[in-house]
Amino acid sequence: MKHAPGKPSREAICAKAIDDVSVAGVPEMRTSTPFMNEGFVHVEGSCGQAMSDHRITVLPGDGTGREVALEAQRILDTIQANTNHGFEQTVIECGGQHYQSTGEEWAEGSFEFCKNETDAIFLGAIGYPGARLPNGDLAGGSVILGLRSGLDLYANVRPIKLYEGVPHKIHGEFRQIWQPGMVDMTILRENTEGLYHALLRRSADRAQGRPEYEPEPMTFPGLEGEVAYDPRPISRAGSERLIRMGFEIAQTRNGAPSDGVRRVSCIDKSNVTRGCQLFRAKFDDVASSYPETEVDYGYIDAFMQWLTRSPEHYDTVVTSNMFGDISTDLGAVLQGGMGMAASGNIGDHHAFFEPVHGSAPKHAGQNKVNPIATINSIQMMMDYLGRKNNDDDLVAVGRLIDESVADHLKDGKMLTYDLGGTASCSAVGESIATKLEAKLKQR
Ligand code: IPM
Ligand code: MN
Repeated sequence: MKHAPGKPSREAICAKAIDDVSVAGVPEMRTSTPFMNEGFVHVEGSCGQAMSDHRITVLPGDGTGREVALEAQRILDTIQANTNHGFEQTVIECGGQHYQSTGEEWAEGSFEFCKNETDAIFLGAIGYPGARLPNGDLAGGSVILGLRSGLDLYANVRPIKLYEGVPHKIHGEFRQIWQPGMVDMTILRENTEGLYHALLRRSADRAQGRPEYEPEPMTFPGLEGEVAYDPRPISRAGSERLIRMGFEIAQTRNGAPSDGVRRVSCIDKSNVTRGCQLFRAKFDDVASSYPETEVDYGYIDAFMQWLTRSPEHYDTVVTSNMFGDISTDLGAVLQGGMGMAASGNIGDHHAFFEPVHGSAPKHAGQNKVNPIATINSIQMMMDYLGRKNNDDDLVAVGRLIDESVADHLKDGKMLTYDLGGTASCSAVGESIATKLEAKLKQR
């Protein structure tokens, strides 16, 4: 029988020694001691050193996700060592590679652990070449999609901000295309329905050991033979809550870079799809409770042009699931690439934070990917935990992470390959953690 992580495990975790060892090919990569024979759940960090007031579950996942997860932990450790904020970290092995070697996407009970024993989750990346479930779904989908749907994390919040010192890689060369200060927006992608609905639902069912949802078979007039389809349900309630969070987030920002106007843009394809017509109607309903906030509309295809040509116009953007998936990868180009793109999957009761990039298997094990997307995801985690617990100091710690990243990039000396440099993942992580430590000590 597999060990199901639960309350007694947490005590076991804290009783265990922490190992710091080197893994061949990944300098400074740490592994940790399994706390149970099965070894699915590991712990790192420093239980008992400070007030352990936040329970953080770390899901390293596949490929480079494992390397950036170490940088997430380094930032948590730095905060813990220099403040009264403590983090009880539990690491759960998971993903496609884990599935190939164990036959499980993660240990049984992991979903419940994330739901019941965790205040915030960090996820590295999911996806391993050739790792598919028997039904063809992505192996590891129970983790990323199962959590999004099963924990009802309806908003995928993706800030797009260009820091000073970050070049853009275009035509194989690094140059400054967009200007820092002119790119600073947050895109909210609906995260529980739309084109992903069936896959999300089945992933959540699998994560919770329930029979997996399959949409009713359908026939389509004029289409003969083999047909595959994905329903795209968009609900009133699902749209409203996402849009409302967008308006709330806009209240915490500084408006659009071009004019400082607080603006929420509704991006859809309501000239074509019914789901988008509902989404836009709900946008107007919600907007009526925020008369001080400017509203703005765009179709997704046109938005792709404006996003690149006039990003300064955008402050907060709300959109449906697949449109948000696609537009935030383009948005990442404006901020220096996927290595810079952070995100939070946020619901009313739970949240997980992850870099937008994937597991990048071809770069795995080389300690070379950019950890900043991850570090900024931890920044978002601090902001989330701080606001949720009315802890202004933790919100301030989040801002100091942002300042540390900005300082690191500004001197332009230590950049990873994706930004034209040769620095390692761990060196950049260490540099930012050192800057953060100094800022925390100065307070
Ligand atoms: C993302 C990813 C995921 C998605 C994949 C890995 C399922 O592309 O987080 O944007 O499509 O949502
Ligand atoms: Mn994506």
